[in-house]
Parts: sequence; C-alpha cells; structure tokens
Amino acid sequence: MAEPKENVLMEKITSLCKRRGFIFQSSEIYGGIQGFWDYGPLGAELKRNVKELWWSTMTRMRDDVVGLEATIIMHPAIWRASGHVDTFSDPMCDCLLTKKRFRADQIEFQSGNAYHYAGAKDTATGKEVVEPYAVLLAAGKPPESARKTAAQFYAQRGLQTVELIGETVAKVENSQRFNPENGSLLTPPVPFNLMFKTYVGPTATEADVAYLRPETAQAIFAQFKNVHETSRQKVPFGVAQMGKAFRNEVTPRNYTFRSREFEQMEREFFIKPDEAVEAVTAAVATPAAKGHPGEPQPNWGWQLWHQYWVEERIKFYEGIGLPRTTLEEYWQKPEELAHYARACVDILFKFPFGTQELEGIAARSDFDLSQHERCSGKAMGIFDEELRTAFGKLPPQKQTELKDRYYAARLKYLTKMGVSAAEAGAAAQEDADGLAKGQYIPHVIEPSAGVDRLILALLANAFTEVTETDAKGKSETRVVLRFHPRVAPIKVAVLPLLKNKPELAAKARAIFESLRGHMMAFHDEAGSIGRRYARQDEAGTPFCVTVDFETFEGIKDGPQAGVKDTVTIRHRDDGKQERIATSELLPWLLVRVK
Ligand code: GLY
Repeated sequence: MAEPKENVLMEKITSLCKRRGFIFQSSEIYGGIQGFWDYGPLGAELKRNVKELWWSTMTRMRDDVVGLEATIIMHPAIWRASGHVDTFSDPMCDCLLTKKRFRADQIEFQSGNAYHYAGAKDTATGKEVVEPYAVLLAAGKPPESARKTAAQFYAQRGLQTVELIGETVAKVENSQRFNPENGSLLTPPVPFNLMFKTYVGPTATEADVAYLRPETAQAIFAQFKNVHETSRQKVPFGVAQMGKAFRNEVTPRNYTFRSREFEQMEREFFIKPDEAVEAVTAAVATPAAKGHPGEPQPNWGWQLWHQYWVEERIKFYEGIGLPRTTLEEYWQKPEELAHYARACVDILFKFPFGTQELEGIAARSDFDLSQHERCSGKAMGIFDEELRTAFGKLPPQKQTELKDRYYAARLKYLTKMGVSAAEAGAAAQEDADGLAKGQYIPHVIEPSAGVDRLILALLANAFTEVTETDAKGKSETRVVLRFHPRVAPIKVAVLPLLKNKPELAAKARAIFESLRGHMMAFHDEAGSIGRRYARQDEAGTPFCVTVDFETFEGIKDGPQAGVKDTVTIRHRDDGKQERIATSELLPWLLVRVK
C-alpha cells in the first residue's frame, strides 16, 4: 500500500534534520530513548534564534512585561495547589496481547464483531486458564483470525495446545476498547499522572518526592508578589519565562511534536478583575470586532485583553515566517474549558501529520493566584490606590452592584474548591469588602507556546524541493529550506569564488571575521561554488556572499564599472545576485536578519 503523502513529507523532513544536523535522536548510540530529542549544530542555532526573538518581542520590547528564570524543581506543594498532583493525567490502557501502551482517548473508534472467550484449556495437559479475553474483527473477517489471536494470548499464559472455552460473539459499534493494530482487548483506562517524580535529598523516601516541572507557568504565580514588588510594574503587566518542562507522555509521537522533555515560552499577563475596571473607568469595553483591538486601553476587560494577546501572538508567528494561511484559531467550546477558564484559543499549525496546537491562550480568571493564596496562606492580592479612590466616589448603588458581583465570583471559586459554605461565604464577603478598599487578586491571560513544536512548524513550512535541469538535460532535485532570515540558523555564508586563489581566500576570511561578531556567519571554501550554494540552501541560509575577481579588479560593466571592493550577494529563494560595496555589507545584512 502506498504511504500517505504527509508521512512521506515527514520522512523527508526527519531525514534532512538528521543529515544536516538539525535534530538527532537522544542517546542514539544506545538505541535511543523514546520522546527525547537533541538539537545538532544547525538546530541549536535555529532554536536559539526562536527563543531570543520571543524573549525580545514579548519582554524587552514591551514596557509592561518583565522576565523570570525559575528552577525546574520547586516545592511539591506548588503542584498540589495547581491541581497537577491530582488531575494532570491522561487515561492509559495496555494491549493484553502485546503489552503496548495507548492513550485511551486517542484510540480510533472501531466497529465489528467481538469474539469473547471465557478461558482456554491445554488439550495436551488438561491445564486451564480462566482469564476472559476478547478480540474484535472488522465485519466480514473469518472467526479463525480471532481464534488465532486468542490462542496467542493464552499461549503467553502457559498453554501450549489451546482449546478455547466459551466463545460468544457480539456486534460492537464505535468502541475504543480494542487495539486497532491486532483487535486484542485493552485493559480498562486508568489515569496516569504525567509528572516525572524525583527525590530531593539523600533519603529517597515518599516525604522527599519532588517533580520535574510539567510547565514553566506555575513559578510565575509562585513568584508573583516578589516580581510585583521589585519590578515597579502595575497591573496590567506580564511576567514571561521560558525553559524546560517535562511530561511523561503515554505515547510520545509525531517526531518532536509531543516529547517528554521539551521547552516552553510562557507568559502570565495579570489584569484587573472586570469589577475593578468598571469602578475606575465607569464601563468595561468589550470586543467590537474581530482582529487586533489596537493599543491597550484602561477600560479593557478580560475579553479584550484575551483578544489582544491572540492577535499579538499571531503577529509574532507572521513575523518569523509563518503566514496566517498556515495557522488556524480554535476557540475551545464551553464544555472543553477547564472549570476556572473563561476562554481558551488554540493557535494551530497545519503540520504534515495534521493541524495541531502551537500555542494556547487562556483566560484563566484569578484561579491560579487564588489557589496559591489558599494553599500557602500568603496573600497574593494587590492594593490599587486608583481603585480605592474611584470606588469611594461611586454612587452607593453602583458600589453594592460591583461588590455583589465580585462576591458571587469569589464564592463560586471557593465553593468549587470544596470550601465549606459558611467559610466560603465569610471569605467571599471579606474579598468583596477588600475590593471597595482597592484590593483584589489579579486575573490572568496566559499565552503558552511550545518551542519544539514551533521549530518543527518552521522546518515543515520552510521545506521545499527544487528540481533543476542542467544543459545536458540531467535533472536533480534538491532541498531548499526557506526560513525567514530572522530564524535562519546561518544568516550569511562567505565564499571565495575559487579556493586556490590566495587573495580571494584571504579577503573572504577577512569579511567573515568582520561579520561573525554580529550574526551567525559561515565560511566555506570547499567544493565548486554551485555545490557550496546548494549546501547553504539546504541549511536555509538566506544570503551567500561571494568574493570574486571583480572584488579586486573593479566592476566590469554597467553604470558602476570600475568600482572596486565589492562582493556578490546571492539570494537563497530566487538565486538572484546583486553587487554591493563590502563596506555596505554589514548594515545591509543587519536590517534583514534582525
Ligand atoms: N501552562 C500551560 C501549559 O503548560 O500547557
């Protein structure tokens, strides 16, 4: 059977990544370790560029976002407060025959005839195994196939010459209980916590259990007060962090898309609760139209902030070479949202293996800081003088209305978290009274992106095959990675036209030395100039600079004839060449690659 086209493309991408040193299997010399990947020389540069662009666009270039770099292992109480200890799990099941593990919710739905067996007997020895077992066959398949699979199952349990006991057949519609690869029954799904456990300290007892962080976001909440107090930021403002996160995925798959060790770029953007915005600005502005809502305004409520961050994030992806046509927005349905979330938009990319999430942008209410306040006993709210003054000037009816709404929201949260009615009522009342005095727990918008899946999206988007036919009619297909210059691992390759001409080689080396302190540059003397261009195209290098005889002798023809010390710039995507003065080269490159 012919392989589906998209798998062929993924195979080409993975093979190029290995061949050119973008991505290697971790621990490959020992057979690899599933769900872990290493970035080679070109991949490391690509990844570094992506992270630096995110950090500078989302942090340094903004007045209202600051950075954080927290530890991977944190106090385990953080993960109890966040809900990860109790609920961060996937349903998992095992094939009874092959022991292969599946995510129960990812098994494709199947219909057919299920053959159930009550047990089996060894006809030679009379020994019985009475473990029930079932095999699903697509309609029309002969029962012998089911009996063969069942015989294998019982043979694994010590029976040699199997006689199956008590076969019954039932029609099954849209079931996820059978292994799609062999029809064998699967174990019932059980939740499997995705956090990697470790021990802190030498005793390795249960009391010393800690976790490798499954997301970077929680550290931002845990350090919220420290950052707020030291950064001179006022709500609304954000805290950004990027770094490694770890999830013991049941079935890591799709190359680097779902890995067990990965990197995230996350931000928590803290905003006022709508009641506080209304108290200060009289009315909360809500989205009037689709698209970017423009510069942030004091009267924005959570909906406009959420829309703003969705659009800002799409703008970021466009700025690094993923056009809007390659992206999709998925607005989670109310029944898909976490209980505390008000909205969540996934930004999806059209990967060769399907349209999948690059980033989630969630409006998470005040859930996270509230949880850490309750669980740590440390206040997570802030005092806002402007709110206190504005609240005091409101008509009594408006004050009551805003306090009532805030009270209802706080009561809902506390009740959901299992706080007794009496305690929840008293605490919610205290919070509502606090609002009138200028106090509140900030709400949050969380844009959370995966670095590794973005790298994969950039590779898939850049991958192009070009077929060229030479003068003798011989065709050759080669790969060009059309990266945006901002993310390309190598920005410029400096090449002497001929290796064996010392003045060309020395000049090329000198130009390379003058560029390498400003950007990732490469110097290559080996092979024909055509081969060297092709090697750079495959690495995704947007510009090649060639030193040739005209560099010294002067331009031969045209209006600039006679001008010396110039180089040729060759453009990766259309092969076009232009000549510029060597002295102009650095500024020419900088505006294109930064
Ligand atoms: N913080 C959201 C996530 O890790 O997916």
